[in-house]
Amino acid sequence: MRDLAVVVLAAGKGTRMRNDRPKVLHPLAGVPLLAHVLTTARALAPARLVVVVGHGAAAVTEAVGRIAPEARVVRQEPQRGTGHAVQAALPALPATGTLLVLYGDTPLLRPATLRRLLETHRDAGAAVTLLAIRPADPAAYGRIRLDAEGRPVAIVEARHAPPELLASDLCNGGVMALDLAVVRRLLPDLRPHPEKGEIYLTDLVARAVAAGSGTALVEAPFEEGLGANAQAELVELERRWQRRRRAELLAAGVVMPAPETVHLAADTEIAPGAVVEPYVVFGPGVRIGAGARVRSFSHLEGVRVEAGAEVGPFARLRPGSLVAEGAKVGNFVELKNARLGPGAKANHLSYLGDAEVGAGANIGAGTITCNYDGVAKHPTHIGADAFVGSNSALVAPVRVGRGAIVGAGSVITRDVPEEALAVARGRQEVREGMAPVLRERFRHRRATAGSGAGSASEGGDRR
Ligand code: UD1
Ligand code: CA
Repeated sequence: MRDLAVVVLAAGKGTRMRNDRPKVLHPLAGVPLLAHVLTTARALAPARLVVVVGHGAAAVTEAVGRIAPEARVVRQEPQRGTGHAVQAALPALPATGTLLVLYGDTPLLRPATLRRLLETHRDAGAAVTLLAIRPADPAAYGRIRLDAEGRPVAIVEARHAPPELLASDLCNGGVMALDLAVVRRLLPDLRPHPEKGEIYLTDLVARAVAAGSGTALVEAPFEEGLGANAQAELVELERRWQRRRRAELLAAGVVMPAPETVHLAADTEIAPGAVVEPYVVFGPGVRIGAGARVRSFSHLEGVRVEAGAEVGPFARLRPGSLVAEGAKVGNFVELKNARLGPGAKANHLSYLGDAEVGAGANIGAGTITCNYDGVAKHPTHIGADAFVGSNSALVAPVRVGRGAIVGAGSVITRDVPEEALAVARGRQEVREGMAPVLRERFRHRRATAGSGAGSASEGGDRR
């Protein structure tokens, strides 16, 4: 939108979170609260995007750079309230046009709702348009005071609101569309509130009305205006975000028999027709292809699972991994930076780290890639159609050639050529008839030891 500027306020400390992390960097669905708000802001394609930072400025600025590199970052120092934050942003904003103010701690806003707000703002010719919500528990939200025609005339913060206004559930959702020329004229008039010395952006409403400017209001589902001010509120937002995203995936044709047990990340992509069984956790960076199946109790992060592949139950897939078409990763298998080619299998009890496994290869139960020597990590290459016997240790860097066989229980320290057999373990010794002899020897030993101090036990030396 050509004459639209968006400012995201992200300078606050988040005192009620009761920890050192800047509030807007607390994670929701695996990414910072601020990422949700910036993604929504970008969906409007504003001509300018400004983020106000202050508390934890270095970390927040770094996050902004990653999420929305086109955004301009301005600093608010010290942090004297939301009105003061917008004052700090003014030099980075155009002279005129529409300014949309978003709070960095309100992550469930939808772009469609903002478009509706902007339309109303334009159609009503208003200078100030508010997003109103009616939360189940209005608690600390600012209350919107209306005139007889239902137009907003003020926002009164809960701590200053008289009882009759506190009884109203019409709350400020923390989003405003503003006429920039009016903001430039009136914002300097706002005065700090005596007790905390903060300048409230919300005071702009009464100020605009006093100056004869028009106001308007758009109501949104209350979820969209929910702020994350304390840990419990963050948990509530997570619950709602998860429910919303699962519903979208189900609607798109993903099969999830117990969706309420599946935990998604903001960027989880699951193709229609894929199956996600109960109790699966997706960290950031996961893509699941059509017809793939992720079985129960698996934990995935930074991995692509291609069409028709199967993962779990009880699999752990870590960043940099790929399970190619039709490949299988079974129970108690961990992949870290490991790529399984089409149709390859690692079905039981394995660790594959920094590994490349060719198409159709079979990794036997208990196989471990020894990728770390205590100082550096090293790669393992396993060729297509190779067969690695159970309980093998592949000491990296090492290569097992295409079609090679590694005998079970081998410790492989040197490369195995294509189509070769490699066995690296103690040779088995067999002595016919030796078992009864050995047993007799043990019995005798126990009898003589028992007549002594009485200390011989099952756990003693049997030889
Ligand atoms: C604010 C509103 C309240 C509204 C609620 C909706 C004001 C005065 N109150 O209250 O009417 O119902 O949001 O969620 O605006 N920030 C800065 N600089 C500051 C202070 C805050 O950038 O000096 C940022 C914070 O990082 C945060 C946002 O502004 O992202 C809102 O601040 P917060 O302290 O959470 O305001 P609330 O008390 O929730
Ligand atoms: Ca808030």
